[in-house]
Amino acid sequence: MKKIIVAIDGYSSSGKSTMARELAARVGYIYVDSGAMYRAVTLYAMRHGMITPDKTVDTERLVAALPSIHISFAPAGADGVQHTLLNGEDVEREIRDMQVSENVSPVAVIQEVRQRLVALQQEFGEHKGIVMDGRDIGTTVFPNAELKVFVCASPEERARRRLKELSEKGENVTYQEVYDNVVERDRIDTSREVSPLRKAEDAIELDNGTMTRQEQMDWLLRQFEAAIIKS
Ligand code: CDP
Repeated sequence: MKKIIVAIDGYSSSGKSTMARELAARVGYIYVDSGAMYRAVTLYAMRHGMITPDKTVDTERLVAALPSIHISFAPAGADGVQHTLLNGEDVEREIRDMQVSENVSPVAVIQEVRQRLVALQQEFGEHKGIVMDGRDIGTTVFPNAELKVFVCASPEERARRRLKELSEKGENVTYQEVYDNVVERDRIDTSREVSPLRKAEDAIELDNGTMTRQEQMDWLLRQFEAAIIKS
């Protein structure tokens, strides 16, 4: 059967990754979490003292270090999750920490970081048969993707979901901290100069605020089948 590219973009903590991962597993496609790549670069910068407590990034040093930052993905382990590797080290857990969430959007505004990661993302999609989620997948990374979905839900709902996820992992954070982070990342992601978060004109909008995970999956599978027929 013909393979397509599926681009799933949307606001922070909107459930894009869960949707994208589940769809890829159902249809036998590769799944790439582009946010994990920005998070891994951010972790590298944090570990090397390139970000100050007020979230100022030493852009010059980070850009100079880019050739020595290698990001890859290990296949899903027993937990069913694909693990992100930073220079070969499994950093899947660490990149989901609140500290990384707080620093990632200032790193993701840097043009050179985006250029490098977008090139890598495009390589992953060379043979199609891929589901990728992020902020600029339908607009910049794969503007010709056969299926584009733009996911939204209220910031309150998204903060509730993310808090539940972090609490289940044992992270000690408050609703207010998570809510503030969601809102601040949305602000930076939508207002940056390079590839701001926005809905591609040909993307289908999904407000999943009141949908169950199953309803969301059924909806996405219907869109996928329609896109395959059209392609
Ligand atoms: O999981 P969540 O939706 O909260 O975020 P994520 O997908 O892990 O992305 C983390 C951050 O990386 C975003 O807030 C953006 O600043 C940045 N990002 C981006 O700029 N472009 C992408 N394609 C993906 C993520």
